[in-house]
Parts: sequence; C-alpha cells; structure tokens
Amino acid sequence: MIITSPTSVVLSVLLLSTACSTSQPSPPGIQKPRFWSVPLRRRTSLRGSGDDFSSWAMNHRDMLRTKYGGSLDKRDSGTNLITNQNSDSSYFGSLAIGTPPVSFDVILDTGSADLWVAGKDCARGCEGVSSTFDASSSSTFANQSTAFSITYGSGDASGTLGQDVVQMAGFSVPNQVFAVCDQVSEGMLDEPVSGLLGLAFQKIASSGASPFWETLAAAGAWDEPLMAFQLSRFMNDSSASDLEPGGSFTLGSVNTSLYTGDIDYINIPSGTGTYWILPLTGLTVQGNSVSLPSGSGSYAAIDTGTTLVGGPSAEIASLFAQIPGSAPGSGNFEGYYTYPCDTDVTVTLSFGGKTWTISPADFRLSQVDARSALCVGAFFEISTGGSSPAWIIGDTFLKNVYSVFRYSPPSVGFAQLSAAALGQNGVDAAPPVATIGSVAASALATSTGSSRAANSAVNSQQPMFSHVRVIALMYTFWMFVML
Ligand SMILES: *[C@@H]1O[C@H](CO)[C@@H](O)[C@H](O)[C@H]1NC(C)=O
Ligand SMILES: *[C@@H]1O[C@H](CO)[C@@H](O)[C@H](O)[C@H]1NC(C)=O
Ligand SMILES: *[C@@H]1O[C@H](CO)[C@@H](O)[C@H](O)[C@H]1NC(C)=O
Repeated sequence: MIITSPTSVVLSVLLLSTACSTSQPSPPGIQKPRFWSVPLRRRTSLRGSGDDFSSWAMNHRDMLRTKYGGSLDKRDSGTNLITNQNSDSSYFGSLAIGTPPVSFDVILDTGSADLWVAGKDCARGCEGVSSTFDASSSSTFANQSTAFSITYGSGDASGTLGQDVVQMAGFSVPNQVFAVCDQVSEGMLDEPVSGLLGLAFQKIASSGASPFWETLAAAGAWDEPLMAFQLSRFMNDSSASDLEPGGSFTLGSVNTSLYTGDIDYINIPSGTGTYWILPLTGLTVQGNSVSLPSGSGSYAAIDTGTTLVGGPSAEIASLFAQIPGSAPGSGNFEGYYTYPCDTDVTVTLSFGGKTWTISPADFRLSQVDARSALCVGAFFEISTGGSSPAWIIGDTFLKNVYSVFRYSPPSVGFAQLSAAALGQNGVDAAPPVATIGSVAASALATSTGSSRAANSAVNSQQPMFSHVRVIALMYTFWMFVML
C-alpha cells in the first residue's frame, strides 16, 4: 500500500528558500534564553502545542486516507530484534536498503532524526566496517547530490543525500531519504554497525527529510501510532560477549508480554516535537530528593542512542553529594564522579506522577581501574547548550522500563518490565540475525527534504571515556539557525 501526499512540493520550496542560510551555533557557554523553544526558522507548519500537533497528525492522516481511496486498511506491526553491543554501550537493529535489498546494522537512536549508512567509498572512520552501501548496485537509488552533515554528542558524520527503498520489520518506504557517509568520527561505527537510524522528529533532521518511522506513522501504516523498546542488560555480566541479544524494537504496537500494568504516557511539552522530550519531575538518590528547576530547565530527551544519563552540573553534583565517599572525577573521568564500589546506589526518576527505579547495576558504570575500590557512576555532567534539552536520559534508565514512543498524541510512555523481559537480562546467547521481514505495509515519504546548513557542535562538555567503550551519545545538536 502506497500513500503519497501533495505537501511535498510546498515543503521542498520552503526548504530550498532557506537552504543557503548558515548555521550559527551559540558561542560556547552562552545559552539562549528559552533554548528549547521552536527554532527561528521552521521547516514545517507543525507549530503550536502538543495538542495542536496531535490534531495536525490526525487530520493529516485522515486527509491522506480520504485522498488516496480512503483505505489504509492494511495496517500492521512488526518487531526487529535488537543486538546489545559491548555490554550495553549501544543497541542496534537491522534494516535493508535498495533493490535488491542489502541489510545493514544501524544504531537505533531516538535522540536524532536522520538515517545514514557508511558508503562504499568511506574515507574516514570506516576501518573495519565490513558492510558499506554501494549505490551502484541498487537499481532504485537516486542521488540527491546534496551535502549532508550531522554532529552528535559523541562525533559527526558527513556525506551526500540519496533516496532509495528502505525496509525494516515488515515496513517499507520506497523513497526514503538517507545519507551515504564518507566521513565518520573514529569510534562511532563499531563492526558490525554500518550506520544509524534516527527515530526522533523530522523537525531536527539535518537532512530535512521525513524519518522512516514518521512517514509510516503519519501514513497510518501502523496498528497503533507508536514504537516500543525493551533493552537488555549485560553490564554486570562479566561473561558477556561483545554482541548479545539486546531486546526488541516494535513498530506499530506494543508487545504485551514484555511489560506488566499500564503504560504511563506523558505528553511531550507543547511546542516541541523535536526530540522525545519529557519534563523530569523528580530525582532521588538513596531515597533523598535532589531539587530540580521547574519547567523547561528540567526537560529531558529520552534517548535510546545515548548509553548513560547526562544532566546539568549542579544537579549531578547534588546527586553525588548524597553518596558518601563520592568525588568528581579527573583526567579521563572529567565530568564523571567516582564513588565507593561497595555502595549500591539506587536512583529514581519521575516523569509526571510516576517514579521509576534504576538498578544499582546500571548506576555502577565501571571500576576506575582493576584494583580500585572506586567506581564511576553512570550519571555525568553535560552542558547541552543550543536548543537541546538539559538532560539526556539514555540506556542506563531505559534498561529498567518498557518504553513507548507515541506519535499521536505525541508522548512517551513507560511501564514495568515483565518477568519475561527481565528474564532476558544477562542470558548469554547468539545475537539475533539481521531480518527485515516481508513487507506488510509501505508508505511514501511526503517530503524529501534537503540538507540544512551543516550543524556544528556547540560547547558540550563531552566527557569521553577511553577506558570503557561505553559512551555513545547519539543525540544530535539541533541549533538555532539565524536568518
Ligand atoms: C552523489 O553525487 C555526488 C556528486 O554530486 C557524489 O560526490 C557522490 O559520491 C554521489 N553519491 C553516491 C552514493 O553515489
Ligand atoms: C545484574 O543486575 C540485576 C539488577 O540489579 C540483577 O538482578 C542481576 O542478578 C545482576 N546479575 C549479575 C550477574 O550480577
Ligand atoms: C513478544 O515478546 C515475547 C517475549 O520476548 C516474544 O516471545 C514474542 O515473540 C514477542 N511477540 C512479538 C509479536 O514479537
């Protein structure tokens, strides 16, 4: 089933008219007031509150259904089995690109919105990457010849944009825009990973293109307009292999075997629809509360592509102040804190009225060194700047819940993991084989985008861990662009 929309032309014109503006990141240390608000230059008409966005999404869907025969009766859902790489460092799934389809392992990243894979001619950062995209061997590839570049918390990638059939978990988008990258930061791609699938909203796509998931959700291709994650834990399993079963990524429904009780959905704040943002409403450590600023000062991006949890330095300092024997790290541990390994640290996070507990096993990132009695905590200082949220809530938290990213109404939901889900933690097994599923539903992207002026990094303090290959910070820097 293929759905298309007449809005692509309008969007393309809007994009072209702004394509030559230049990116002006905030100077280091200077944050814009209301830095999380909508950009000065808007890409789409998705302005206004979450409710507005929700009704826009509904109308858009209904309009498409009416215009194209009124029927998207073929809806579906599908699951992609995830691989857990390097003891919870990153979680990747598989998709296929081109005709004939070639499969690629990609980091699943709810903290950015672009799809890219390393190209056959990748010149930097692709050593050891065995699977690269060869445009000449896909009969459906269309080169857009537009430069692409994106900066993440942990590195960058650049190349050119193209368009091709992309398939995943039984869904297909025949005209998905993605980047074929030839320059990638060292350490970003760790075999067998070839690229990254952004699962946040189009508004923060550096390509300007509709993300794979958003095209499917907007077209009504899913049984339910949401996607869900269950992420496994191998961090505290000393016998874990580099690749272990990582849990599951379900598109178009939830898997009721993987959680118990209700899913607690919290709407993303009005005017966002960029990252999957939730206000962090509470933080405790060992039962004591850490005070948080109200409102947008405590906005948090819920990010499967970030390994740990990053927060503002004041709150991170208050958190560790509750742990006797803790101290700020130095050298390679700048931005981190150490604490006595024999302390079991229990941190809880609240979103809305509900509180979720992080296992002490996830808080204990690693020993400082093999003989040390000190451990490094999984919460670190980050100064996101730009228009990124103050907190980046990554897998340290997400391993402890079933998480649902809902398109309409735009919200993030959490539920308690079931015994079946928890039972997968630390169970060594062969990682899943790449599957794409037979295509059950397909939707055409309605906007093909155009690369924005290149994003460039702001002053994030990116504490980089050379000891542990554990730090993937795959949230994209999304900048104000001055006209
Ligand atoms: C697309 O075209 C550009 C030139 O416009 C070229 O540099 C690039 O390699 C092409 N990309 C692919 C994947 O063939
Ligand atoms: C890892 O941590 C989890 C959660 O705290 C715990 O249930 C499990 O027994 C731990 N596994 C090992 C091998 O210590
Ligand atoms: C739901 O999860 C259970 C437990 O992991 C699994 O056995 C089942 O296959 C999953 N269902 C689907 C439809 O993927």
